Amino acid sequence: MKLNSANINIMVKACRKAAKVLIRDFGEIENLQISVKGPGDFVTVSDKKVEKILIDELQKARPDYSILSEEIGEINNDESFKWIIDPIDGTANFMHGIPHFAISVGLEKEGEIICGIIYDPIKDEMFLAEKGNGSYLNNKRIRVSARSKLEECVIFTGGPRQKAEDRELSLAEYKKFSSIINTPIRKMGSAALDMAYVAAGRCDGFWQRHLNYWDIAAGIILVKESGGFVTDFHGENRYLENKAILAANSKINKEMIEVLK
Ligand code: IPD
Ligand code: CA
Ligand code: CA
Repeated sequence: MKLNSANINIMVKACRKAAKVLIRDFGEIENLQISVKGPGDFVTVSDKKVEKILIDELQKARPDYSILSEEIGEINNDESFKWIIDPIDGTANFMHGIPHFAISVGLEKEGEIICGIIYDPIKDEMFLAEKGNGSYLNNKRIRVSARSKLEECVIFTGGPRQKAEDRELSLAEYKKFSSIINTPIRKMGSAALDMAYVAAGRCDGFWQRHLNYWDIAAGIILVKESGGFVTDFHGENRYLENKAILAANSKINKEMIEVLK
C-alpha cells in the first residue's frame, strides 16, 4: 500500500482504539432491545465515549490541529488543519443491533480534505484514502465501478429524517428515479459507508440531501481518489453550501444529474 503518511497512521491508530469500545458496546445492544427503556441512553453514552477516544488520540498526536466533531462541535486551534469526526455514522442501525455503521474521520488542510478513514468495526473493513495516493480497502487499492447503464446499477440514498418539506423532496427524487429506471435503490443507513461503497465499486452512485460535513468528509476523498465524482445535484462543487451530495462513478454521474436537477 502506498499510504504511509504520518497522519494516516495517526488516524488508523485512533480508529482501532475507538473501535474496540464500539464493538464491545454493540455486543450489549442486543440485550437492551428487549428492555423497557430501550438502548437509547446507552447509545448516546457510547457515541460520546467513542468520540472522546478519537479526540484524545488525535490530539495527543497533533495538539495543534482544529477539530469538528458531531457531538462536541468545534475546537479551534490551527487554522490550516482540521479533523472532521463522526464517531458513529449509522446510529439508528447501531441502536437496533444492525451491524452496519462506521467511524468516519477526515482531515482537512486549508479547506480541502486530504485524508479520510471510514472504519466498519463489525466487518473489520477499513477504507482509507489520501490525496494523490488513491483509495484502499484493507490495504488493497479500490476503484469505482465501471458500470455505465443506470439499469445495471445499484444506487444508494439516505434519509429522509428532517423537516416535512425535505421529506417531500427526498420522496420526489426517489419517485423520479424509480419511475425512470428499474435500478435497485437502497437505504443502508450510513452515509459514510454509502460513500465508501461507491469508492469500492460495490454501489455505483449515491445521492442525499441535508447531510452534515462529518457524515461525508472522509467519503469525499475516498470517492475522488478511487476515480469517482463528488458534486451537488447540478454537477457543481458546491455540495456543502447546497446541502445536496451526489457521489458516483464517472460514467453514470451525468445521467444521475439529469434525474436529480
Ligand atoms: C446519519 C446516517 C444516515 C443518514 C442521516 C445521517 P448518524 O448519521 O449517515 O445514513 O441518512 O442523514 O444523519 O446520525 O447515524 O451519525
Ligand atoms: Ca452521521
Ligand atoms: Ca453520528
